[in-house]
Amino acid sequence: MKLWGGRFKDSESKLMEDFNSSLRFDKTLYFEDITGSIAHVKMLVKCKIVTKAEGDEIISGLKALLLEVESGKLLIEGDFEDIHSFVESNLISKIGETGKKLHTARSRNDQVALDMRLYSKKKANEVVTNLEELLMALKTVGEENNYIMPGYTHLQRAQVVTFKHHMLAYHSMFTRDKARIINAIDIMDESPLGCCALAGTTYDTDRDFTAKELGFKKPVDNFLDGVSDRDYLIELSSDFSIIMMHLSRLSEEIILWSSKEFDFIRLSDEFSTGSSIMPQKKNPDAAELIRGKTGRVYGDLMAILTTMKGIPLAYNKDMQEDKEGFFDSIETTLSSIKVMSGMLKTMKVNKESMFNSVKKGFLNATEAADYLVNKGMAFRNAHRVIGEIVIYCEDNNIAIEELSLEKLKMFSDLFDDDIYEFIDYENTLNKGIKNNMK
Ligand code: ARG
Repeated sequence: MKLWGGRFKDSESKLMEDFNSSLRFDKTLYFEDITGSIAHVKMLVKCKIVTKAEGDEIISGLKALLLEVESGKLLIEGDFEDIHSFVESNLISKIGETGKKLHTARSRNDQVALDMRLYSKKKANEVVTNLEELLMALKTVGEENNYIMPGYTHLQRAQVVTFKHHMLAYHSMFTRDKARIINAIDIMDESPLGCCALAGTTYDTDRDFTAKELGFKKPVDNFLDGVSDRDYLIELSSDFSIIMMHLSRLSEEIILWSSKEFDFIRLSDEFSTGSSIMPQKKNPDAAELIRGKTGRVYGDLMAILTTMKGIPLAYNKDMQEDKEGFFDSIETTLSSIKVMSGMLKTMKVNKESMFNSVKKGFLNATEAADYLVNKGMAFRNAHRVIGEIVIYCEDNNIAIEELSLEKLKMFSDLFDDDIYEFIDYENTLNKGIKNNMK
């Protein structure tokens, strides 16, 4: 079913028809397509391009179509080229000749540009809401488990931190992600409807009216840009990639922490899976899937960047390729955020294991060196003395704070009774990280 048979003598090859058709994926845009069309018709009435009676007939036809699609009565399928042809053809079948006036002063080029803007704006706002839920989950799990844990560099135990501080590091990352999306929405918030194919129209239309009707800040400034701009998809895909990168880093920690080697957390049954052969296993599949899906979201970003790089102004059919990748990347990002929130809300944090790791890791060695510095030793010398103490402790399977004062004095006579309080883990936290706690 085509909208453009007039200037063609021969029919299109079936191969080409299938190759060209986008209905199987752009059906996702049915709501935006119908909503955009309703706003367009209202404008046509306001500008006296169609009569009020015609406008009313078209609008009720479109509303009826929307209801039929949403109730499942009308399935989006058949040999239509795209969602725009599907809606227009069904409207004409439903209301007859008047339906043929819908496409006055509009092209599929500004129509698809509008649909994608409306859709991506809606979905980007959904990402913001889900990020807010994730931010809450991070804060809550941190606050409820404000225990001492080892902080790492090079995945080697380094200094004492708290589980809350660790969670709040991710809170900072996702807060930036939220700001990035809000900024992207602000930049893209302009309506391309009314640019028509590339150069506007001979009708006296009102782009301000449709922009307002559809909730945009304003119409786009330039017609050529309006129909061919896909920057907002690239920008959002890039924001989604950064979100996935953050989720993937957190997933990696969850995978490590839930292993018996770390044993810092236990994932709930709700967000883990078992092995078909090894009965003892509980696998962190949710976290592994998020880590794995990150690659695909990066791929979606690369695909759209590459598609757009050689396209002359204005619309070219290459741009139809913007959809599958973008839909995939937004759905993957949304479900990954939701699954991460679910995992965080239901996991158990093992206070004891984390504390044992702190003790075994000489995580007060830096503070022990600071102690000697406070007593007058140069830091480089203090570093060497504590290094020697750590070797001794490792050889004798003992923690620094378990050494007697007599033993400590063998390494430096600057040690005194107050060393034990100074290198107490809680005290080192109070002096260091707690200054940074929000
Ligand atoms: N399916 C097309 C797309 O996604 C719709 C726009 C078609 N425009 C055209 N001039 N053929 O880009």
